[in-house]
Amino acid sequence: MTIRTILEFPNPVLRQKAKPITVFNEGLKKLVADMTETMYDAPGIGLAAPQVGKSIQLVIVDVAKLEEEQEIMVMINPLILDHEGSQVDEEGCLSVIELTANVKRYKKVTVSFQDLDGEPKEITAEDRFAVVLQHEIDHLHGILFLDHLSVLKRTLYKKKVQKLLAEKKA
Ligand code: NI
Repeated sequence: MTIRTILEFPNPVLRQKAKPITVFNEGLKKLVADMTETMYDAPGIGLAAPQVGKSIQLVIVDVAKLEEEQEIMVMINPLILDHEGSQVDEEGCLSVIELTANVKRYKKVTVSFQDLDGEPKEITAEDRFAVVLQHEIDHLHGILFLDHLSVLKRTLYKKKVQKLLAEKKA
């Protein structure tokens, strides 16, 4: 397993619409293994393939009950079938450095997806788990949690990143 580089805003790959996956092979399993290692190393609780430069419809989510355990759910071609209610919770993203903010999301979502063998699955998630799923699925549509914030907050963040990038170059 290899730890991959996590792309950061404003990398254009993060803005692409990810392609559906039709081939379930060893290469895909290898990518999932690498993404798992990368996510736990970061550390994070979810990671979408575009974040490691692969614009394909794959996300992994940490579903371990205990903090010291590691258990991931692999979701391929995920689709939100149904949603209910709303909630506001604080979010951050490995690709959006130095920012956390409250985001309004659905309270409950039902998602269809395929597992690593291509088997169709369905899951209903609530609360924090539902937030993580919506956040990760957003990545597959080129959407970052930043896009759910006010124009003012977004503009301030863009300025901050420009400054950070300028400092790095200097
Ligand atoms: Ni993210």
